[in-house]
Amino acid sequence: MNPEGHAGTSGPLGVGVIGLGRVSPAHLEGYLALPGEAQVVAVCDIDRRKADAVSTGLGVPGFTDHTDLLAHPGVDCAVILLPHLLHHPVVAAAVAAGKHVTVEKPLAVSEAQCRELIDAARARGVVLSVSENSRFVESYLRVKELLDTGRIGGVRLVRAFISGSAVSELADPDESWKHQDFGFAAILDAATHVFYVLRWMFEPVVSLQATTRHWSVDHGVPKSTVEDGAVVTGRFAGGGHFSVEIALNLEVPWGERFEIYGEAGSVVCDQLTDPVATFYRDASDFGSVLPGVSTDPRGWRTASMHRGAADFVRAVRSGRSPAVTAEDAAYAVRLAEAAYRSVREGGVMVSV
Ligand SMILES: NC(=O)c1ccc[n+]([C@@H]2O[C@H](COP(=O)([O-])OP(=O)(O)OC[C@H]3O[C@@H](n4cnc5c(N)ncnc54)[C@H](O)[C@@H]3O)[C@@H](O)[C@H]2O)c1
Repeated sequence: MNPEGHAGTSGPLGVGVIGLGRVSPAHLEGYLALPGEAQVVAVCDIDRRKADAVSTGLGVPGFTDHTDLLAHPGVDCAVILLPHLLHHPVVAAAVAAGKHVTVEKPLAVSEAQCRELIDAARARGVVLSVSENSRFVESYLRVKELLDTGRIGGVRLVRAFISGSAVSELADPDESWKHQDFGFAAILDAATHVFYVLRWMFEPVVSLQATTRHWSVDHGVPKSTVEDGAVVTGRFAGGGHFSVEIALNLEVPWGERFEIYGEAGSVVCDQLTDPVATFYRDASDFGSVLPGVSTDPRGWRTASMHRGAADFVRAVRSGRSPAVTAEDAAYAVRLAEAAYRSVREGGVMVSV
C-alpha cells in the first residue's frame, strides 16, 4: 500500500488526459504503449479542434471541460498537461473526484499550493505524482547508481546547464500563458527539472542565490515578460556547491548537461553529445564511457516520459509509491521560490 493509503487496482487503469498541447503526444504514446496495464479512455482540451482530433484518432470521448472528463466513470487517473497556473485548480478537482493524478512539472506555482494538493490527495487516499521526466533519463539513472554505490563519493560540485530555444514559443500569441507570469520561465519551467534532480540525488540545499536574464524581452519579442535565462548557485548541507544555468534563447535543440564532481570520481552527462556520459576516476583518468546509456539526442526526453508513464501506472496498480513523489516535486518548487526571492532581493544569498 502506498503512503496515500491506496491499495492498488486490478485490470487496466483508465487514463484521462487533460491538455492536448505540445507535450501531450509523448505522454499519450507512453500510455498507449501499456496494453493490459493502462487504457486511454477519455481526453480533454478547452480547444474543441484538439479535443476532436485526438478523441477521433483514439476512438474515445473528447471533452472541452475537465469536470466532464473527471465525471467519466471509466477514468481512474488524470494525466494533467496544462498551463502552470491551472495545475493547482485542476489537480485539486481531480483529487476531489477521487482520481489518481500525475501532473506535468511544476506540481504547482508555489510551495503552499503544493502542500494543499499533497494534503488533499492524502486525505482522499489517491496517488499524486508529477510527470518529472528527469527521474527517468537513462544517464541520470546510471549516475544515481554510481552515487549509491560510492563511486562518486562526497559531492564537491554539481554543474547543470539547460539550453534550448523558447524564443518562438515566447513570441507566439497562441501560447500566451508561456510568456506571462508563471509561464515558460527559466526558473519555474526549466530549473525545476534540475532542482528535482538535486533532491533525488544529493543532500538538501541550504542556501542559494539567483539572477535572471530577459533576452526575449530586451530584443523586442512581443508580449514576453518571463525570464528566458537564469543562473542559480548554492550550497548543499554537506558543504558541496552547485551551479545551474538555464538559457532558453539559444538556437540549439533542447539539451541538458550535468557535471558531478565527487571525492571518489566524477561524471559528465550531455544529452547532445556522443557518448552521452563519461566517468572519470580521478585527476589522472581521462575518462571511460558510462555503460548502459544510449545516445539519443532526438528521443531522450520522449523516452524518459514513456518510462515515467509506465512507472506511474505500475505504482497505482500495485499500490506502491510512484518514483516521483509529490513531496520531492514540491521541494523543486520550494527551490524555485527561493530563487525568485533571491532575484527580487538583487541576487543575494537566501536560506532555503
Ligand atoms: N517535461 C518536459 O520536458 C516538458 C516539455 C514541455 C512541456 N512540459 C509541461 O507540460 C505542460 C503543458 O505544456 P505544453 O507545452 O504542452 O503547453 P501547450 O500550451 O502546448 O498545451 C497546453 C494545452 O492545454 C489546453 N488548455 C488550456 N486551458 C485548458 C483548460 N482549462 N482545460 C483544458 N485544456 C486547456 C490548451 O488548449 C493547450 O492545448 C506544462 O506544465 C509544461 O511545463 C514539460
